[in-house]
Amino acid sequence: MKFFVDTAEIEAIRELAATGLLDGVTTNPSLIAKSGRDFMEVTAEICAIVDGPVSAEVVALDHPTMMKEAEVLRKIADNVCIKVPLTVDGLKTCKALTGEGTMVNVTLCFSANQALLAAKAGASFISPFVGRHDDNGFDGMDLIEDIRLIYDNYDFATEILVASVRHTTHVLQAAKIGADVMTAPPKVIHDLFKHVLTDKGIEGFMADWAKTGQSIL
Ligand code: E4P
Repeated sequence: MKFFVDTAEIEAIRELAATGLLDGVTTNPSLIAKSGRDFMEVTAEICAIVDGPVSAEVVALDHPTMMKEAEVLRKIADNVCIKVPLTVDGLKTCKALTGEGTMVNVTLCFSANQALLAAKAGASFISPFVGRHDDNGFDGMDLIEDIRLIYDNYDFATEILVASVRHTTHVLQAAKIGADVMTAPPKVIHDLFKHVLTDKGIEGFMADWAKTGQSIL
């Protein structure tokens, strides 16, 4: 499963990129606002740090203006992936852009039928929001299972990008279902490394090693 980080914070992206485990980045208008940075400038910086897809979202709601915005955004770098909302105009834009060879991430997906539409529109990625789904009394992971089944039934190439990830259990469940990608805030990715028995084990080994009085270097 590929790991994308869901942030526009440059230092957090650099830190995760240095682990060699980061495959891409997702941003959205709220994350850009939170960063306090200029959208074009910060997107260009992110694209230079990470080789994989960097999602940059259009903010227009109509197809012609979405196309104009996408034109500006895709000039930033070759690894820009245009993010469009799951609406009629968003999917028209998706179809047009992927037809021209541009990567598209269809966002704000909350049903398997919406995911089916996005795949038919040629989306590179579909972003079902599991956390927001959970918040509204549904099980976000049921949605991922349904989308996996449908995409496998028809051999759709669209990658399932599990979004709105809130904790490490979401990551585990997404991997068990066979999602292609997950995008999570930096903290959730850092939490994946942690285990109390790893810390305890290191503590024990270090204490015993000190007793030997030896050094490797
Ligand atoms: C995905 O691309 C979105 O940016 C993101 O995962 C939304 O997550 P949230 O529900 O925590 O805002």
